[in-house]
Amino acid sequence: MRLLAVIAALSTTALAVWPLPEEYKSGDGVLWIARDKVTVTYNGPGHQPQGYGNGNQSSPGAQPPPVVKSAIQRTYDTLFEKNFVPWKLRPRLSDFEPTLGGDSTYIHEIVLEQNGPDAGGNASSVDESYTLEVTEAGKVTISAKSSVGLLYGLTTFTQLFYKHTNGGVYTDKAPVSVTDAPKFKWRGLNVDTSRTFKPLADLYRTIDAMAFNKFNRLHWHITDAQSWPLEVPALPELADKGVYVNFQRYSPEDIKKLQEYGKLVGVTVAMEIDNPGHTSSIWFSHPDLIAAFNKQPDWTTYCAEPPCGSLKLNSTKVYDFLEKLLDDLLPRLKPYTPYFHLGGDEVNMNTYLLDDTVRSNASSVLQPLMQKYMDRNMHQVTQTYDLTPLVWEEMLLEWNLTLPHNTIIQTWQSTEAVINSVQKGFQTLVGNYNYWYLDCGKGQWLDFYPSNAAEYWPFNDYCAPVHNWRVMYSLDPLEGVPENLTHLVIGGEAHIWSEQTDTVNLDKMVRCPYPSSCLELNRLLTCEIFKIWPRLCAAGEILWSGAKDASGQNRSQIEASPRLAEMRERLVARGVAAEPIQMPFCTQNGTQCAYPPSG
Ligand SMILES: *[C@@H]1O[C@H](CO)[C@@H](O)[C@H](O)[C@H]1NC(C)=O
Ligand SMILES: *[C@@H]1O[C@H](CO)[C@@H](O)[C@H](O)[C@H]1NC(C)=O
Ligand SMILES: *[C@@H]1O[C@H](CO)[C@@H](O)[C@H](O)[C@H]1NC(C)=O
Ligand SMILES: *[C@@H]1O[C@H](CO)[C@@H](O)[C@H](O)[C@H]1NC(C)=O
Ligand SMILES: *[C@@H]1O[C@H](CO)[C@@H](O)[C@H](O)[C@H]1NC(C)=O
Ligand SMILES: *[C@@H]1O[C@H](CO)[C@@H](O)[C@H](O)[C@H]1NC(C)=O
Ligand SMILES: *[C@@H]1O[C@H](CO)[C@@H](O)[C@H](O)[C@H]1NC(C)=O
Ligand SMILES: *[C@@H]1O[C@H](CO)[C@@H](O)[C@H](O)[C@H]1NC(C)=O
Repeated sequence: MRLLAVIAALSTTALAVWPLPEEYKSGDGVLWIARDKVTVTYNGPGHQPQGYGNGNQSSPGAQPPPVVKSAIQRTYDTLFEKNFVPWKLRPRLSDFEPTLGGDSTYIHEIVLEQNGPDAGGNASSVDESYTLEVTEAGKVTISAKSSVGLLYGLTTFTQLFYKHTNGGVYTDKAPVSVTDAPKFKWRGLNVDTSRTFKPLADLYRTIDAMAFNKFNRLHWHITDAQSWPLEVPALPELADKGVYVNFQRYSPEDIKKLQEYGKLVGVTVAMEIDNPGHTSSIWFSHPDLIAAFNKQPDWTTYCAEPPCGSLKLNSTKVYDFLEKLLDDLLPRLKPYTPYFHLGGDEVNMNTYLLDDTVRSNASSVLQPLMQKYMDRNMHQVTQTYDLTPLVWEEMLLEWNLTLPHNTIIQTWQSTEAVINSVQKGFQTLVGNYNYWYLDCGKGQWLDFYPSNAAEYWPFNDYCAPVHNWRVMYSLDPLEGVPENLTHLVIGGEAHIWSEQTDTVNLDKMVRCPYPSSCLELNRLLTCEIFKIWPRLCAAGEILWSGAKDASGQNRSQIEASPRLAEMRERLVARGVAAEPIQMPFCTQNGTQCAYPPSG
């Protein structure tokens, strides 16, 4: 009786799924799941994926597509190897675990139904919706139009289950009914691998944790002023001379494998070659293409951070270089992504005073040259390679460039930038640095002379303080956007710039071996990822579920916090050293750490 009472009390807690599904209902029935007691089928009884389920391979039939096959594998891995006992989320010293007995019900069947074709892998048109039903009798049905939808349905499914102290895996939420689809189609993280290098293993693990939070874009800011880790076979000198050290480089094979892995878990890699600013690292191999390289000591006049340097703005040599660079890179990226990011942020006009092809900082001189420069880039990206271009907001809002109508504008400076960009008719990404920059608050990386140190004390960075999950959770992508333009806000990205984030605060001191294949990765998830977790989950939920709840109010921290605390435990169980949300005193009873006391 006592046990039943506790379980009944638990039933009032909502599903702890993160991000929150569009619609869901759940009960308080207990179901167990075990490897050898469940059959998984894909589009019909004859289609049982090899190697899974109860081993009944009497009629194996057609195999599911790779995304689904890997999703099933990951589901097993999450349920049976990377699960956790939820004591931190249950009342202190309570008898919260169900008892396994002869009459316990097991999940006997997971039916996966894909009722649409995968759209040739076109990431911009994939239907990510799904439904999930778990009956009290232990039958699970997941339906979706695409294989990625099935992946998300399975991901949600894993979040219903807990490990039992005595062994075994159970849910106490049956029956469950979920209807789900994302609010925004672009849910991304931007990772900078130039300021500091990220070993590939870090990127694989980041993609894994992103997929677990239903993110679908990795924006790879692969190059910048400080180093050029990208190998370009047509221009080998770029990496040969532009890396920090010889082993910190990405080969074409590395990039292809990462893209393939991302595709397997619904994460499209959108690579950026930032230009014409943020290109000083090209100087090491092509000094004649760069103006104002590492201008010192008065660098603040010419750039936002050292080393200064920009591709020259009125140079046919630069044009030829870009043509060759993109001709090498884009055909290799294209099979895995419809996107390419052309950068365009923080171009400092004074740089062109030192550009021998221009020698001016007048916007009347520079603007037409920038338009011509961008037209060349855009022609190659959109016409030659039929890719959808992205640029940073400055190109549209500060340089007033005319851009192809399908350009995606990435804003970062303000809410106004989002509004201005959609008012000009462009698809737009949010990512306001006051909310979604994950690198803020570490303090300055610049060194101050003793004579002026006092003036800069306590050495805060430009976007301090740290943006905690509550701040990230308070960004509404649609804030101030007119009703009839909200469809142009297609999503957003959180950003981890890397002046002070390398593999050590990315990684928990354990050197991770390089995964030799995508599937091997599951065995390698033993190291920490960026100190971005679980903060990044907050952006993930805003992008998947929207900033407003079902009644149109701002989402509540009081509601979200216990779910995020649970998601944190799930990430830790995956080997991600995500930080705690609260101490167990709070998470064991979700009402007593609310503030202010009066509500
Ligand atoms: C194995 O699958 C076949 C065909 O789907 C079915 O008829 C049979 O009952 C199954 N056997 C077991 C042990 O599940
Ligand atoms: C949870 O906190 C409330 C308010 O402090 C308290 O009344 C209740 O007894 C607590 N429940 C548990 C299980 O600790
Ligand atoms: C991908 O889908 C988008 C949106 O439906 C469409 O505009 C675009 O043309 C498609 N791209 C390709 C290469 O089919
Ligand atoms: C750009 O370069 C061309 C060719 O060298 C030159 O004729 C022209 O004056 C330059 N434009 C500017 C604004 O300097
Ligand atoms: C442009 O350059 C001149 C020096 O040639 C400088 O005095 C002026 O401040 C610069 N303009 C801007 C907007 O920085
Ligand atoms: C873009 O337009 C604004 C507003 O008209 C103007 O202030 C700004 O100087 C323009 N930028 C350039 C680079 O011409
Ligand atoms: C909801 O959040 C927005 C920020 O996105 C804030 O400006 C607004 O004041 C909040 N509304 C309420 C009722 O707190
Ligand atoms: C959006 O609505 C405003 C009025 O609220 C109107 O002026 C504008 O033309 C509309 N824009 C579009 C693209 O329909």
